[in-house]
Amino acid sequence: MGLLIRNGEIVTSEDRYFADIYVEDETITKIGKGLTVPDDTEVIDATGKLIFPGFIDPHVHIHLPFMGTFAKDTYKTASTAALVGGTTTLIEMCCPSRGEDAMEGYNVWKAKAEGLSACDYTFHMAVTRFDEKTEAQLREIVADGTTSFKIFLSYKNFFGVDDGEMYQTLKLARELGVVVTAHCENAELVSRLQQELIAAGKTGPEWHEPSRPEVVEAEGTTRFATFLETTGATGYVVHLSCAPALKAALDAKARGVKLSVESVLPHFLLDRTYAEREGVEGLKYVMSPPLRDKSNQGVLWGALEAGEVDTVGTDHCPFDLEQKLLGKDAFTLIPNGIPGLEDRVNLMYTYGVSRGTLSLNRFVDALSTKAAKLFGLYPRKGEIAVGSDADLVLYDPAYRGTISATTQHMNCDYSGFEGVAIDGRPAVVTVRGQVQVRDGAFVGKYGRGEFLRRTPEASDAG
Ligand code: URP
Ligand code: ZN
Ligand code: ZN
Repeated sequence: MGLLIRNGEIVTSEDRYFADIYVEDETITKIGKGLTVPDDTEVIDATGKLIFPGFIDPHVHIHLPFMGTFAKDTYKTASTAALVGGTTTLIEMCCPSRGEDAMEGYNVWKAKAEGLSACDYTFHMAVTRFDEKTEAQLREIVADGTTSFKIFLSYKNFFGVDDGEMYQTLKLARELGVVVTAHCENAELVSRLQQELIAAGKTGPEWHEPSRPEVVEAEGTTRFATFLETTGATGYVVHLSCAPALKAALDAKARGVKLSVESVLPHFLLDRTYAEREGVEGLKYVMSPPLRDKSNQGVLWGALEAGEVDTVGTDHCPFDLEQKLLGKDAFTLIPNGIPGLEDRVNLMYTYGVSRGTLSLNRFVDALSTKAAKLFGLYPRKGEIAVGSDADLVLYDPAYRGTISATTQHMNCDYSGFEGVAIDGRPAVVTVRGQVQVRDGAFVGKYGRGEFLRRTPEASDAG
């Protein structure tokens, strides 16, 4: 049976128009007014709704052994949260640690998702060590359809690679046509500053930001760009947080370095004062790069509208309060991360489009289409066109609500955005033609989500 979505206003990264959408099996097969469809077609009336291509979150942590503990979500909780929040495809960071075997890690991460995810998914494969065996395994992983890598310039001795390993990873990526995503902070400087602050008795969460100042992120970004320039590889800076790092990335782009920029939800709306709050409150707001001085937010919003920030992800990483309290006596022990997978679309819509100056087309581009293009998913994903997957978000801009941990689907006992108002929400969400969210509630099937195999040729960063 086909599905007809009628009377909605379609919004893509380029267009905005009224038309009906007809879906057969998993694919959009007709777009137009007054479509003729078979009698047994299911009809959804989208009057008053904006119809967006399914949103893509390019930076998500679900299974994550990190800082002596594990992030709390499973694929069931995370994919439910993603879909209720309008995200139909997520890209998870597959992060075996430096001491682990890359292929074993890759298989563990895949197994965590298989048969459980309600939304589609793929991975960025972290390269946390580079040697002959790992190189051979990375070739196999790319052949399996995982065509983007992740490196960490921070997290010394755990996820972090040294400059030699970064060079080798980029050379391999260049050869294979793979995009390298990078967490850009100088590991040595972070480690030195952490030790000095702790020795001086500066142990609270408010010292997390001073231990990784903006200049440390700018250095990492500059160094990554220099290595891209030297190797000719294509790169993508993840979770960029501040003006000096943005300048470093834009300077590199201006001289022809193939580099794209992601920022993430918390950096647009939260600032360093949140980590200065008393007691456990401050611990909730520790992530890396850290929440910055508020003056950076205007810079990020402006760069987003200008397309200088290419994409917006979440860096979704839920640790609950008990886990955050592991670092109550030393900020270096607070598990880094803030949940956000469920909230990205609604908050960026509310504070970007509804109450800000972000154009609706750029909103769709940054939260969906651009990620699809950069990571080899376009035009299957990130587009509303004949032949594209029928991943559709029927968005209700008249909805009014507030974010709360008591109603969220993410497996976390707090929200970094508790009590924040939203001016809209997804009413209906489809994944390849199947309704997974109706009236804002999850009604879908676990296991419906597919692992998206990509090809290196389709990648288009820069
Ligand atoms: O604080 C963060 N970002 N936690 C997750 C790990 C990472 O660096 O992406
Ligand atoms: Zn990171
Ligand atoms: Zn991350």
